[in-house]
Amino acid sequence: MATLTGKKIIVVGGSSGIGFGVAAAALESGAEVAIVGRSADKLKAAEKRLAGAGRVKSIAADMANEEDVARLFKDAGAFDHLVATAGTPPPNYPIGEADMDFVRQFVDSKLIGAVMLAKHAVRTLKKGGSMTFTSGINKDRPPVPGGSVVSAIAGSFTYFARALALELAPTRVNIVSPGWVDTEMWDEIVGEAKAGYFDQMGARLPAGRVATPADVAPAYLYLMQNDFMTGETIHIDGGQRLV
Ligand SMILES: NC(=O)c1ccc[n+]([C@@H]2O[C@H](COP(=O)([O-])OP(=O)(O)OC[C@H]3O[C@@H](n4cnc5c(N)ncnc54)[C@H](OP(=O)(O)O)[C@@H]3O)[C@@H](O)[C@H]2O)c1
Repeated sequence: MATLTGKKIIVVGGSSGIGFGVAAAALESGAEVAIVGRSADKLKAAEKRLAGAGRVKSIAADMANEEDVARLFKDAGAFDHLVATAGTPPPNYPIGEADMDFVRQFVDSKLIGAVMLAKHAVRTLKKGGSMTFTSGINKDRPPVPGGSVVSAIAGSFTYFARALALELAPTRVNIVSPGWVDTEMWDEIVGEAKAGYFDQMGARLPAGRVATPADVAPAYLYLMQNDFMTGETIHIDGGQRLV
């Protein structure tokens, strides 16, 4: 497996949740990390919490905005690996009540945003590098009702990676599909009810508990480090697809 020591990694979504966990693990492995998100304040706070010893910087950019994405890669300079975990709570209306502005906004940031990241990343991604995007359990276990949009988007990532892995070879392109992970996104979606949801899910899961960002970060590190992994989707869900 290739080392991450001295490698430059861009983590879009690195100011919170899964992306923060990936940034922390990459720094521990000796990488240089640029964390990206929309809020400069969140980025600064995350930078402080990451024990980066001068190896972490932050870049404020909205992946749904092409000018931002172009500037992000210009600011970051040549780099080795792109990880994208960024996302916002999905639409959860029954289909007959779908708020189409919200649906478009979600598709724009999660899917079109990933396409824009790939488009601009190829210009400065070094030979031997990789891109890793994030889908999720919602494609396998859609929330009912209201899961159709998030399920469609999450499912599309597998095929996005397969096609890009061929087009961009030898650059590798992969997907991580996590089950439930205890992140700030859940605080936003269910607030104080989070502990109850997680206790119930933990009791059902073969792993016996819901994941932390530190549990899923190694899947991203593995995909960056293993030169033979491309066009693949890794599921890391504590057995959630089985129950
Ligand atoms: N947590 C789970 O249980 C779980 C399970 C499966 C899949 N996922 C997927 O994993 C992804 C990350 O989830 P998370 O739980 O880590 O969420 P999170 O804790 O809310 O973190 C989201 C990160 O993405 C950034 N972000 C959001 N929209 C952005 C945009 N348009 N441009 C740039 N950065 C943006 C946020 O910063 P700013 O707000 O400052 O932009 C933040 O750093 C989501 O797509 C989610 O659907 C999560």
